[in-house]
Amino acid sequence: MPDYILEATDIRKTFGKGDRRVVAVDGISVKIERGKTLGILGESGSGKSTLGRCILRLIEPDAGTIKFDGKTVSGISQSQFRPNRRNMQMIFQNPFSSLNPKMSVGEAVEDPMKIWNIGDGESRRKRVRELLDLVGINPNRSGAFPYEFSGGQQQRINIARALSLDPKFIVCDEAVSALDVSIQTQIVNLLMDLQKQLGLTYLFISHNLGVVEYLSDDVLIMQHGKAVEYAKTEEIFKNPKSEYTRNLIASVPAMPTVEQLMAKKIATSKSGALKKSAVPG
Ligand SMILES: Nc1ncnc2c1ncn2[C@@H]1O[C@H](COP(=O)(O)OP(=O)(O)OP(=O)(O)O)[C@@H](O)[C@H]1O
Ligand SMILES: [Mg+2]
Repeated sequence: MPDYILEATDIRKTFGKGDRRVVAVDGISVKIERGKTLGILGESGSGKSTLGRCILRLIEPDAGTIKFDGKTVSGISQSQFRPNRRNMQMIFQNPFSSLNPKMSVGEAVEDPMKIWNIGDGESRRKRVRELLDLVGINPNRSGAFPYEFSGGQQQRINIARALSLDPKFIVCDEAVSALDVSIQTQIVNLLMDLQKQLGLTYLFISHNLGVVEYLSDDVLIMQHGKAVEYAKTEEIFKNPKSEYTRNLIASVPAMPTVEQLMAKKIATSKSGALKKSAVPG
């Protein structure tokens, strides 16, 4: 029996009224096995982010049920839902605007632990150092501010922050899209290494077919809020069932390609840039 950490059934979300009514998510169902990645592809406005936000209950779906880690987490109040929050995190597209410019990166990573009253100052700061090290940021730089880091480093810091509460499930919404291609591959490989080490489950939203093919176990293709296709990654890419998916695969240049990602992974593993890597190069 597959161990599904997340089961969302018939999720629906409409915005606006009358002429401005938009059915953003129109009856989507997904299941994600623990430790696996579901990739979501689709053109701009197809409802990918709305679905991700509904699943995390950052916005309320109009209809549908959500089961997370064996419990039904839809149809309950936000306060009843709150204990689940620490297990579900989100990483966004723009690494700089995701960080508070007035907080040192150490404070940024510590902040969720403070909010959740976890440990004391000393144990939290120890944990911050471990987390920064885990994502490839020198822990001695914990006193520096976000602007002192590159975009890729800032995204590593956002990942450390997302990991600070030991989540089980992370929604990555275009988490690498704003980065240079070579940096994208580093962050994608970091996310995959972290998944192996920590048993994380991902919902990975992206425009980038190459990246989605590389890291997803299953792929959902969305158009106008509906599922055009939902299958194992291999099936989607080798044997796409729908015209829409075939066109998507044909028309969108996959940058970076799976081959580039693989090459980069081997290179970074050899150079030790991903020194915590649990994955042999
Ligand atoms: N808060 C909102 N209020 C009104 N309409 C919204 C809101 N959020 C999303 N929408 C609309 O819902 C539809 C789906 O938007 P969504 O952001 O989920 O798409 P997306 O697939 O994530 O697009 P992108 O690839 O550009 O990020 C769009 O038509 C969008 O304009
Ligand atoms: Mg989006």
